[in-house]
Amino acid sequence: MTLEIKDLYVSIEDNQILKGLNLTVNGGETHAIMGPNGTGKSTLAQICMGHPSYRVDSGDILLNGESILDKSVDERSRMGIFLAMQNPIEVPGVTNFDFVKAAMQKRLSKDEHLRIGKFILKFEKAAQDLKMGQGLAHRFLNQGFSGGEKKRNEILQMKMLNPSIAFLDEIDSGLDVDALKIVGENVTQLKSENLGLVLITHYQRLLDYITPDYVHIMINGKIVKTGKDELIKRIDQEGYDWVKKEMGIDDEDVKPFSLGTCPAKN
Ligand SMILES: Nc1ncnc2c1ncn2[C@@H]1O[C@H](COP(=O)(O)OP(=O)(O)OP(=O)(O)O)[C@@H](O)[C@H]1O
Ligand SMILES: [Mg+2]
Repeated sequence: MTLEIKDLYVSIEDNQILKGLNLTVNGGETHAIMGPNGTGKSTLAQICMGHPSYRVDSGDILLNGESILDKSVDERSRMGIFLAMQNPIEVPGVTNFDFVKAAMQKRLSKDEHLRIGKFILKFEKAAQDLKMGQGLAHRFLNQGFSGGEKKRNEILQMKMLNPSIAFLDEIDSGLDVDALKIVGENVTQLKSENLGLVLITHYQRLLDYITPDYVHIMINGKIVKTGKDELIKRIDQEGYDWVKKEMGIDDEDVKPFSLGTCPAKN
């Protein structure tokens, strides 16, 4: 499967966040996206998944050559797109188990039924692979989970749903070193010719476990540089100033951010 993002401009409320972003992800490829805070990395993942708060101003997102802009989140999910969220939300009242079961049932045609025994075995195995601990998988979705548990739970869903294009948005944040290894190994096991992977991260340590084929640097709403491992190392050591200099990006170009004026003390 191929996901093509073409000259994409995206806004939220009156702020334009993505400004002419191009990216093509083919099955079998792993792309890492790095970039300073607030540069639009999560916006990219959310708009590809169909988040309703974001507006596409121009450009297109194509899956195997067909635009998906008019598809709902649910349709996109069934077409094979997956997003592991930077901040997974808590859904009290719905167990993890029922959530994944419902998502998998929705992928079957009307006359097919989910084979529940097989499903349970696969679910238990996935939970074990991720060392999620007894009972966690059967609790309400993400409710009261620690930061690291929530991240592992996103990968549990990915293992069960077997997507063709997956965005992992800062899957490494909040993970302790052991959990990072577990998540890294599990994601690496999922790599195949049928999976296009997009890893959004700030740090080299995730990419030590999941080797990317391409590394993209995103600044101010678009990808400004693409390379390989050498980019990760340099960013880790030197940050982003050199990229800005090299690409002639002035910090003035980056939208000034104001918290407004504080009321004077009396
Ligand atoms: N509802 C909103 N109204 C105005 N601006 C918003 C809104 N939601 C997000 N933004 C802004 O969009 C910009 C891009 O946010 P985004 O979450 O995509 O950044 P990011 O690259 O993922 O950053 P980080 O590395 O911190 O996760 C930020 O400046 C953010 O403040
Ligand atoms: Mg983000």
